[in-house]
Amino acid sequence: MRKFVIAGNWKMYKTNAEAEQLTEAIKGKTTSIEKTQIIICPPATALETVSSIVKDCEIAVGAQNMYWESQGAFTGEISSEMIKSTGATYVIIGHSERRQYFYDTDETVNKKTLYALQTNLNPIICIGESLEQREEGITKDILNDQLEGALKSISAEQMIRLIIAYEPIWAIGTGKTATPEQAQDVHAFIRTKLQSLFNAATSNSVILQYGGSVKPTNAYDLLKQNDIDGALVGGACLEAESFSEIIKAAESLS
Ligand code: 13P
Repeated sequence: MRKFVIAGNWKMYKTNAEAEQLTEAIKGKTTSIEKTQIIICPPATALETVSSIVKDCEIAVGAQNMYWESQGAFTGEISSEMIKSTGATYVIIGHSERRQYFYDTDETVNKKTLYALQTNLNPIICIGESLEQREEGITKDILNDQLEGALKSISAEQMIRLIIAYEPIWAIGTGKTATPEQAQDVHAFIRTKLQSLFNAATSNSVILQYGGSVKPTNAYDLLKQNDIDGALVGGACLEAESFSEIIKAAESLS
């Protein structure tokens, strides 16, 4: 059975002092959580701070991006090895903000994913369509291409370590959420695509997260859908109260 995985993407928010405070607060509010995997993804500068606070509990830590070489003259980049040295075990790859502002492509997403897997970091790959693409009726074509591009040369064994986050761009930071039915429809499509790329057992094991204006008020109805196994939360994860409410919604469905 798949377990719920709730990840908080802090984006470019929180200094180290703020990160410490927020992590302590999240930890304090989630002591009764047993079945839901929680992942905190702070900015790279706070990875070590957050990791050191959660090292005695089940909360995992992830980075928001990485480069596909172990070291070298790549000013401003960080490697998988560096991320792991902080205690983090996950990495978000190909978030739409990185695709939009920092030139991530399906090809670089694939390179990053392969390198993360090779070095034992667990990738959370983000995919999603723009509003124009949805209105044109090409959502599934876009997701199909993003999945094929990101998952090139990945084996079924590696695939089960991956999380796929479906984040419709039009729902990110806009307060506009996909309806549970819209999200479920896309998630079912993604799972069917994974079955054709790998096999049924693999596609049934992969965690599929929804992201885009997930809040305590809509989390339960989204997470209740058959193929939604978690959430990648932006704005609502910056407060311990709202993030823990989303985690509790998942726990109540476990
Ligand atoms: P919001 O929850 O703020 O819409 O952000 C979603 C997101 O981009 C998570 O990666």
